[in-house]
Amino acid sequence: MALKITVNGEERALDLDPEMPLLWAIRDHLQLTGTKFGCGIAACGACTVHMDGVAVRSCSVAIGDAEGAAITTIEGLESPAAKAVQSAWQDLDVVQCGYCQSGQIMSAVALLEETPKPSDEDIDAAMSGNVCRCATYVRIRAAIHEAAERMEG
Ligand code: FES
Ligand code: FES
Repeated sequence: MALKITVNGEERALDLDPEMPLLWAIRDHLQLTGTKFGCGIAACGACTVHMDGVAVRSCSVAIGDAEGAAITTIEGLESPAAKAVQSAWQDLDVVQCGYCQSGQIMSAVALLEETPKPSDEDIDAAMSGNVCRCATYVRIRAAIHEAAERMEG
């Protein structure tokens, strides 16, 4: 029987093993390739998506466990926090190679939706699971503060 998952506001039926990682379904079956594969073991954050607004590692969530939840990927981000993050990221030129960045943005947006004015400590705690091999961490932190200000204004 087909599984039904809701991704970016659309219900999608997938005839897949319920144990398959959500990341596989998103990338290979729904062709939403903005979400990246990095480690496959919940250690890098490249595959971060939102499940009911919470940042989760999609490589480590079974699609059977995602049934009934609202999944948002980088392609479906459209909240005020998302717009503030995307514009701050661009203006502060955060991205280097880009590979980790959709995961970074998903974690940053989840943080700002929960904590609109985060401290450095809040940012470090929320972003600690997102690894960047290009070490863009200082710009990421600055861009999150900048996005928080844009959300206020
Ligand atoms: S690919 Fe999921 S955390 Fe690295
Ligand atoms: S920008 Fe290259 S891995 Fe983060």
